[in-house]
Amino acid sequence: MLSTSRLTKFASIIILGSIILFPNLPVLAQDRVQVSVDTSKPGPKIDRNIFGQFAEHLGYGVYEGIWVGTDSKIPNTRGIRNDVVAALKALKVPNVRWPGGCFADEYHWRKGIGTRAVTLNPNWGGVVEPNTFGTHEFMDFIDQIGSQAYLSVNVGSGTPQEAAEWLEYLTTPLPTSLQKERAANGHPAPYKIPMLGIGNESWDCGGNMTPEYYLRQLTIYSRFVRNFNPAQQGRDQMLKVAVGPGGGEARWTEWTDTIMKAWEKRQWSWDMQGLSMHNYTVINWGNKFASVGFGEKEYSQILKETLKMEELVTKHSVIMDKYDPQKKIALIVDEWGSWYAPLPGSNPGFLVQQNSIRDAILAALNLNIFARHADRVRGANIAQMINVLQAMIMTDKEKMVLTPTYHLFKMYVPFQDATFIPVTFNAGTYSNGDTTLPRVDAIAAKDTSGKLWLELTNVDPNDAVEIEASVTGINANSATGETLTAPKVDSVNTFDAPNAVKPKPISAKVQNGKLTIKLDPKSVTVVSIS
Ligand code: AHR
Repeated sequence: MLSTSRLTKFASIIILGSIILFPNLPVLAQDRVQVSVDTSKPGPKIDRNIFGQFAEHLGYGVYEGIWVGTDSKIPNTRGIRNDVVAALKALKVPNVRWPGGCFADEYHWRKGIGTRAVTLNPNWGGVVEPNTFGTHEFMDFIDQIGSQAYLSVNVGSGTPQEAAEWLEYLTTPLPTSLQKERAANGHPAPYKIPMLGIGNESWDCGGNMTPEYYLRQLTIYSRFVRNFNPAQQGRDQMLKVAVGPGGGEARWTEWTDTIMKAWEKRQWSWDMQGLSMHNYTVINWGNKFASVGFGEKEYSQILKETLKMEELVTKHSVIMDKYDPQKKIALIVDEWGSWYAPLPGSNPGFLVQQNSIRDAILAALNLNIFARHADRVRGANIAQMINVLQAMIMTDKEKMVLTPTYHLFKMYVPFQDATFIPVTFNAGTYSNGDTTLPRVDAIAAKDTSGKLWLELTNVDPNDAVEIEASVTGINANSATGETLTAPKVDSVNTFDAPNAVKPKPISAKVQNGKLTIKLDPKSVTVVSIS
């Protein structure tokens, strides 16, 4: 006779045996992650500006990445490389933040129009700054990719007059000397500047200011730096974005509190419409993680670290709510993304890193946090667009490669200006050693044409997840879209193997209002449900 313990052992062997023999055994219904999508309770609009990009004069971000010059053999339009423009067009980039970054607080716009002055870039590698890519080239670039300008004016080493004149130069339709100069430089019509950052990290590289000192600068710049474009005087006004926090510690909460309290008590003569926030995903600034050639430990630690964005957004939103319960001021996370050790052999001041499937998942987790805070977070700019930090694109002379983060941003295009739809699910957990984080993440939204989109992330790099999503409020039959995954946690695209990580099509049936879909390990899936 078999004892109970021997019976259990026997049963385990049979179960284990059947899993080994029949690896494709169906997952039991109770093992599935239940996701519920309720279209009857739509939330706020997911502002397309959360998909913004950042292009700083840093390393090969602008020079080589965007600008090759009109004499280059690399196919270009007025000096701007055609391959990069075509790739970025597909992302429907809503805005590009330029010229920095720390660079912005040392940038003098006049050196980048007409006859160019050759200067230095002390922040980033101490290299020569040719100023061949200046105001007109930037405006041409964003026009070519179908985007809009988010300019940062120099508060650190500039003056309110210099910034005010830049805006007059860009936006006035009236025949002032600056307008005539702009026309002589090829652009008689006023430019549109939808977003304006007043300084950058003024608490640090932007001038080491105290919150009170910066506040004085903000009120002066906000008063005098005007947009004169007649098309931007009504509802389409330029958003002025104040420098905000760079973390969650007391120093940063005090900063947010100082600016927001002053804004609440402001007089008619100054205003702002946005507060910026910077937050990079980095573990140990002194000894940063590698961007490639890492294992599951570093994969799980970085993804856990990136979830701190939620805590940070919540913390600063609570302070903002105190002074601005109507949420008039947008929180603009205008620098975010992964920051790893520079690639061996690269100039450390150029911030060159690889971009793996881990970064695509990291981007999805952050974008989902922004979407869930869509009522307050109405802008964000990943750092940076090309060849720098968590880039969309990497170039090497005439070669170009699209990164996993590029593919992820492309998959998220339907979420631009879509209406947030609440999703509930039990995320479960995924652990590696001491690191535990939610296994599944999801958001849903209805796009501007009314189509429903569902995003599902499986953080677990080892096991697939079966999802059973119930969709109420629409009569759905099927789901189609794309899924992005890769063989290894550090899989990357290279110039030699540019398609190692790229999305593949996925489709599933909806039966009795339930969508069943299997998520590959370490994957992001976006489907439309109809
Ligand atoms: O994105 C690189 C740098 O990081 C930016 O110039 C600066 O604002 C931040 O510290």
